[in-house]
Amino acid sequence: MSLTALSHCGPRCSLAVRHLVQQRSLWAGTFRSAQLTALPKAPGFVRPPRQLSSSTVAQCAAAAPSVLSRADVITDHPFNNITDTIFQKIGVNLHQQPGHPIGIIKGAIHDYFDSHHPTTFTKFDDLAPIVAATANFDEVLVPADHVSRSPNDTYYVAPETVLRCHTSAHQAEILRQGERAFLVTGDVYRRDSIDATHYPVFHQMEGVRVFGPQDWQASGMEGAQYAEVELKRTLEGLAQHLFGEVEMRWIDAYFPFTEPSFELEIFFKGQWLEVLGCGVMQQQILDKNLGPGQKAWAFGLGLERLAMVLFDIPDIRLFWTSDQRFLGQFKAGNMTTKFKSYSKYPPCYKDVAFWISDAFTENNLCEVVRDIAGDLAEEVKLIDDFTHPKTGRTSHCYRIAYRSMERSLTDDEVNALQEEVRSTVATKLNVELR
Ligand code: DAH
Repeated sequence: MSLTALSHCGPRCSLAVRHLVQQRSLWAGTFRSAQLTALPKAPGFVRPPRQLSSSTVAQCAAAAPSVLSRADVITDHPFNNITDTIFQKIGVNLHQQPGHPIGIIKGAIHDYFDSHHPTTFTKFDDLAPIVAATANFDEVLVPADHVSRSPNDTYYVAPETVLRCHTSAHQAEILRQGERAFLVTGDVYRRDSIDATHYPVFHQMEGVRVFGPQDWQASGMEGAQYAEVELKRTLEGLAQHLFGEVEMRWIDAYFPFTEPSFELEIFFKGQWLEVLGCGVMQQQILDKNLGPGQKAWAFGLGLERLAMVLFDIPDIRLFWTSDQRFLGQFKAGNMTTKFKSYSKYPPCYKDVAFWISDAFTENNLCEVVRDIAGDLAEEVKLIDDFTHPKTGRTSHCYRIAYRSMERSLTDDEVNALQEEVRSTVATKLNVELR
């Protein structure tokens, strides 16, 4: 599994990985290798996103489920790379369930902003996850050749329509509506590897606050400096609200939509843990969508990551279970729950080896495995990678761990899954089984 070094990747790249839960940033050095494909231009929007609407915390919980049909999302357009497994996640909206760990974390963050800045932040948590590619990338200044635009990394409905890969996709449209302080929570989608901390759907919260000259003039600071000071003060308060009295540090980072950019880390359970990415919003985004003369801060954080750390949840698949032995342990408003494993069923390991072609990517393999085994796929790991000295062909061997969170799997069941994985890999991924 190679990571692609990016020329615009900031200082964060050189830092050692020391996270309890693996970092999921698209921007700061966690990229998988990917072929960048030029996107063909074609009209492709399937259905306009749901009308933008603001909501109070109470209304958020009652938001309507998705109204998208399968045909809206899975099309035969050659660019479409959305699977049934992914389609089934759209509209589940774990963040709208107040008693679900994801909803509990969202509620705790809302509480923090409500108590420190009453009535200031408008909350959005029912914005449709299908967005224009321009909103997901261009409007937040993601470079034209950025790896995150690749269909290897992002789910495309059509060339100009994607499943949002971050909640930053809504920054520009909400600014255009004239909002000056807002929080957006939603499900985001990324093609990715399979392990205990990676899942192709997860939840993020985005925060933005805009300031005008009247805000910074009284402070004697320049606008950008004022926004940075406010940003750090606000987010340090948030981290304390969630984690208690912890040591914190600011790390310089790179994001296309902010300058300067930072990550906030806290020292928690003996390790430095990245909590969020943030920065002073690029002036261009503000000027274009709200008007000149303003400054703003923005942040984005992953809710699964925080929930796993705060509630001791060991595997990201658990968020999607309907098992009451999991869900029953959590209660709306209770941030002190420590998850107790109800049982750990044994994993079953199966290897698959093949000669790869140039077009092969690990994300494509993982998509095949997920589509066949669903949440029974616990991990897909490259265990052998060699290039034949004479033929120059490269062989990969992957070990797939199958494990259910709820029951023991039978040999027959696992063998059948593995057989299907093998044959699908051979036919769909253009590789030669060994
Ligand atoms: N969109 C970023 C991600 O998905 C997170 C983020 C970082 C959002 C910095 C922001 C920000 O608004 O300022 O990794």
